[in-house]
Amino acid sequence: MEQVDTVILGAGAAGLFCAGSILQHARDRSERIIVLDHARAPGEKIRISGGGRCNFTNLATGLDRFVSGNPRFAASALAGFSPADFVAMVDRAGIAWHEKTLGQLFCDGSARQIIDMLLHRMRGAELRMGTAVEKVELAEQGFRVTSSGGPIMARRVVVATGGKSIPKMGATGIGYDIATRFGLALVEPKAGLVPLTFAQQDLDLCRPLAGLSVAAEVSHGAGRRRNRFRDGLLFTHRGLSGPAILQISSFWQPGEEIAVDLVPEVDVAAGLRDIRGQGGRVAVASALSRWLPARLAEAIVAETGLCGVRLADQGNVALDGLGGRVNRWMLRPVGTEGWRTAEVTVGGVDTRALDSRTMQVKSVPGLYFIGEVVDVTGWLGGYNFQWAWASAHAAARAI
Ligand code: FDA
Repeated sequence: MEQVDTVILGAGAAGLFCAGSILQHARDRSERIIVLDHARAPGEKIRISGGGRCNFTNLATGLDRFVSGNPRFAASALAGFSPADFVAMVDRAGIAWHEKTLGQLFCDGSARQIIDMLLHRMRGAELRMGTAVEKVELAEQGFRVTSSGGPIMARRVVVATGGKSIPKMGATGIGYDIATRFGLALVEPKAGLVPLTFAQQDLDLCRPLAGLSVAAEVSHGAGRRRNRFRDGLLFTHRGLSGPAILQISSFWQPGEEIAVDLVPEVDVAAGLRDIRGQGGRVAVASALSRWLPARLAEAIVAETGLCGVRLADQGNVALDGLGGRVNRWMLRPVGTEGWRTAEVTVGGVDTRALDSRTMQVKSVPGLYFIGEVVDVTGWLGGYNFQWAWASAHAAARAI
């Protein structure tokens, strides 16, 4: 039977990076590494990421940018491999990049350049595509990996099979099955960075506005559990999307409400009173369109029964109600669009089973979990790739 030092399951961001990093750390030591993946091409999610330009890291990376049942777990790996370390690699590969907003770094050209860099870096390891991993078991000296390409014996196994998002791109959830077989707990995986869906009454407002985008603040929860994101909000035929909604979706739990502030810079009720104080002969909808696109202003005014009326004729109660509707629009999503469109999986292998410095399973020496399969999920904006690089680097250093 085929014998190797390390089998890496999954040729995505974490698996490819891990193979290259093991080879770098091994230097003179000869290491036989095989990377298995059932997809046709490696790094498929990298290829489509960031609109084809790959948002490969974020300069604002810090623990507060990740969701995990064990919030401090990622600290050691993130400290061991920083965004600057990845940028240095990108620079050495001659890949041009730019900062968009909020510390997000993208390739000037194509995401393909990042895949090529990772493949170049792991020359010396063997990449076997079109090979489905079926199971991993303990063997006398390490592990037996069963795949559609036959069994392989390995001293170490690195599970980098990602989460469940976008099955069409190869996601299977096999990493969770492997973890469970080895007795590890899971934090229930759920779709993250995903559009939310809404009941008919909300859709009646959203649908006619499909395609319209505003800069909004979306918040959720209260007190110390409050999360808020100020970013783009997009009206769609299915409800609401855009970066602010995707961000909040990673925190939202079924049944909970979210609050949308459509004009976060302005107290709209106070603004409307000011305009009224200056004469206020304008229609309410035109006054509101000072801060909102006219179509949205008209839709809100129609919903609140103030269509065609003059601002001057409105009392404070009506203006406060309208201002509240704009600054604190409360919605109760009915669900998410699910795995089909989710950019990530929130939850995964419970980190309490893993050594935070090495990603090794504490109870199973030689078995490692890295990348999205682990219960560490980044915000939107390059944090998920930074976690893939950092966790892969931590495992490789230990191997
Ligand atoms: P990843 O999912 O990349 O790789 C897992 C691999 O395992 C896959 O190649 C899969 O085929 C393979 N596999 C699964 N089951 C298998 C089996 N049974 N047998 C064999 N192989 C199997 N993040 C970011 O930081 N910046 C960005 O710009 C974006 N953009 C983005 C866009 C879109 C559309 C999506 C869906 C996601 C993003 N992300 C992102 C998230 C990012 O892509 C994601 O977090 C990383 O790819 C995770 O890397 P992993 O290597 O852990 O899993």
